[in-house]
Amino acid sequence: MKMKFDICKNYDEMSKHAAKIFADLIKEKPNAVLGLATGSTPEGMYDELSGAELDFSSIKTVNLDEYYPISPYNENSYRYFMNKHLFSRVNVKIENTYVPNGSAADPEKECKEYDELIEKLGGIDLQVLGIGPNGHIGFNEPGSELFSNTHVTALTESTIAANSRFFDNISDVPTKALTMGMSSILSAKKIVLLISGKVKHNALKALLNDKITPNVPATFLKLHRDVTVICDTDAYNG
Ligand code: PGA
Repeated sequence: MKMKFDICKNYDEMSKHAAKIFADLIKEKPNAVLGLATGSTPEGMYDELSGAELDFSSIKTVNLDEYYPISPYNENSYRYFMNKHLFSRVNVKIENTYVPNGSAADPEKECKEYDELIEKLGGIDLQVLGIGPNGHIGFNEPGSELFSNTHVTALTESTIAANSRFFDNISDVPTKALTMGMSSILSAKKIVLLISGKVKHNALKALLNDKITPNVPATFLKLHRDVTVICDTDAYNG
């Protein structure tokens, strides 16, 4: 099954289109399990969802990744990001929102339990993803091997550099992360991949053919039967 590409004229249109896919699911399945992501890309979508008067009271959410080690109260933690951009703005029950625990004493155990949790919830109905300029998904960075399940990983220098814009100092960026692996991600029933901006053009181009390579982890999404890439013209045309 080929990936579907929806090309939007700009970031705003992309965000609205993605939000509608989530809104439609929430209306159709009020107890859906939503797979969520952080980063600049989905912020507009979360704004749309927050303003849409949807009922999140039975919704469960599972986030893709988290820095390690990091406190959930640290403003740069992905837990903090989610609380700020979505959870505090809708009527989701905070105990139904899951983000890998960046302060877990035993990170390997946390990862194993995270996959078990996703399974116990009945799997992810709809997963939103961003993509790195290098084609990473979550913290699944380019490499000769990819881990399939949720795991602890070292951040690459390029990701540390890209994410340092949020920190006072590059040395403050955590050097590790807990991330869902490609097979945890591929087990979602439906996937929406958001791609915005010229800086993501090369990553997007790698999705337009049928080649799958660990050098561009996002190409593994070609194995999934229901992926919609929602991009803006800047990302598509470069
Ligand atoms: P961004 O990050 O949305 O901030 O560009 C996406 C990613 O690196 O996965």
